[in-house]
Amino acid sequence: MTVVVLAVADAARYKALMLHAYEHAADAFTSTAQERALEADEWWVRRIAHPEGMTVAFGCFEADRLVGTVALEFSAKPKTRHKALIVGMYVLASARGKGLARALMQAAIGACASRGDIRAVQLEVTEGNVPAIALYESLGFTAYGVEPLAVLTPGGFRSKVHMWLALPGPPCPVGNGCDAAL
Ligand SMILES: CC(C)(COP(=O)(O)OP(=O)(O)OC[C@H]1O[C@@H](n2cnc3c(N)ncnc32)[C@H](O)[C@@H]1OP(=O)(O)O)[C@@H](O)C(=O)NCCC(=O)NCCS
Repeated sequence: MTVVVLAVADAARYKALMLHAYEHAADAFTSTAQERALEADEWWVRRIAHPEGMTVAFGCFEADRLVGTVALEFSAKPKTRHKALIVGMYVLASARGKGLARALMQAAIGACASRGDIRAVQLEVTEGNVPAIALYESLGFTAYGVEPLAVLTPGGFRSKVHMWLALPGPPCPVGNGCDAAL
């Protein structure tokens, strides 16, 4: 399968896939399909291809159909721009078990690494989401905390596991060795 960087022209297909995801994997996401359906087209464009590069999204297609996606959010703030956040990891049920999520995650991690200034890739995953946690752990992510009562889903209150992956990069610019253990 091929992973591509999504472009503005993919925004409508991305929106359709994510509205499906919020509906069919409601426990996995913080947003609801109802609230996201109200977002303007511009919101979806900025989610996948922010004009200043603050987001980037990846997709897998079967024929012309977008069947899997993951996105990255970057920070413009000087104190946090060394961190990236993984959001919106979803593969259609019919396309699962073929390595799409792994390929999408590898593309996202690779994009973070190629920027050169990202030292930490972060994500949140609902506690008990065995497939997703196994995926992230297999890629080197480790849990650094569990947030109780993180989201109220159709299944009740759920905790979120916070995970991160350290990336090699330039040493801490402060130069005091504070990142030597990473
Ligand atoms: C989690 C999800 C993205 C996995 O997608 P996928 O394309 O089927 O995953 P892959 O085929 O690339 O599998 C990669 C790894 O994920 C893990 N994995 C995937 N499905 C799994 C399952 N049913 N049980 C346990 N581990 C599983 C395994 O570690 C697997 O590696 P392996 O095949 O070498 O064992 C998909 O199930 C999904 O979209 N779920 C609903 C939405 C969701 O939970 N998103 C995550 C939000 S944080």
